[in-house]
Amino acid sequence: MRVLGIESSCDETGAAVYDDKLGLLSNVLYSQIAMHAEYGGVVPELASRDHIKKALPLIRKAMEDSGSTPADIDAVAYTAGPGLVGALMVGAAVARSLAYAWNRPAVPVNHMEGHLLAPMLEERKPEFPFLALLVSGGHTMIIQVSAPGCYRILGQSVDDAAGEAFDKTAKLLGIPYPGGPLLSRLAEQGIPGRFRFPRPMADSPNLDFSFSGLKTHAANTIREAEDSEQVRADIARAFEEAVTDILAIKVRKALRQTHYKRLVVAGGVSANRGIRQGLADLMAELGGEVFYPRTEFCTDNGAMIAYAGMFRFKKGVRADLSVEVRPRWPLDTLEQNNG
Ligand code: KG4
Ligand code: ZN
Repeated sequence: MRVLGIESSCDETGAAVYDDKLGLLSNVLYSQIAMHAEYGGVVPELASRDHIKKALPLIRKAMEDSGSTPADIDAVAYTAGPGLVGALMVGAAVARSLAYAWNRPAVPVNHMEGHLLAPMLEERKPEFPFLALLVSGGHTMIIQVSAPGCYRILGQSVDDAAGEAFDKTAKLLGIPYPGGPLLSRLAEQGIPGRFRFPRPMADSPNLDFSFSGLKTHAANTIREAEDSEQVRADIARAFEEAVTDILAIKVRKALRQTHYKRLVVAGGVSANRGIRQGLADLMAELGGEVFYPRTEFCTDNGAMIAYAGMFRFKKGVRADLSVEVRPRWPLDTLEQNNG
């Protein structure tokens, strides 16, 4: 069976074809970063308009690259949420229309489930059950994945998401949008231990996170510190170390609570090298295993939507003829969720 997947939840348009026997057959992506950089962040209306321009050419390319004709496609999957409503509507309308024209079912996909399942596209993939740490621009969550599709949210951010904290701190450091990856590159030049950021909620008994204090701490540190490239790198380093530490502290607690030995880390921030290393060290210490998507599948992409779409298609999930999206769509409300 073959699924075409379409992603358009934020500032990336993605299309991919996944075959359940042959694996991923194609994956194409267009990033709007350059367009939004001028404004220092994503402008929703511009995002929607650009998705309109890019969706069909990308889909055509994904179909061609995979050697598929519409007759080979069994379902059209699309990101139905969470995300920017206008951006989601574009992908949903295109997917729904193609599915209608091709006389195939349309399958709505939860973007966070897409991220969570992205490591399944790799050769070395986790067995169930596992713990998932989802760290993206909009979400930070620890999820107990007891079986395929069974998600229990054990903890999440009470304020900013990890990626949001990266982007806001980057802005304070004068780094252009999207700050996360560029801050991370700067941090590599930073001297460890020159500054120390707090570890918010590290001692709280629950598995929730709080990241908004880090940006305030960054603002104060920047104001008081000398203004040089090295100092900025040192601050970036200290910030990244604090985020890594907080994530590791909460993951350690969650593993103790669940007695799980496998950890999946996914979402845009999981592309961060320091965080990948920090969590790999933790799992090595605990005698467990860690699984990441390859870097290009950490951030938004169509491949993860095609994969999650195949999973949901096989479970019988179908969209009706209306074009509906869910800007907010908690993972633990998905169908057949009994974890
Ligand atoms: O998953 P994603 O592409 O989109 C959402 O679903 O939000 O995540 C984007 C977020 C942004 O905040 C971006 O700055 C962050 O992931 N990000 C990174 C890195 N690459 C992307 N943060 C830190 N280090 C990176 N290397
Ligand atoms: Zn995402």
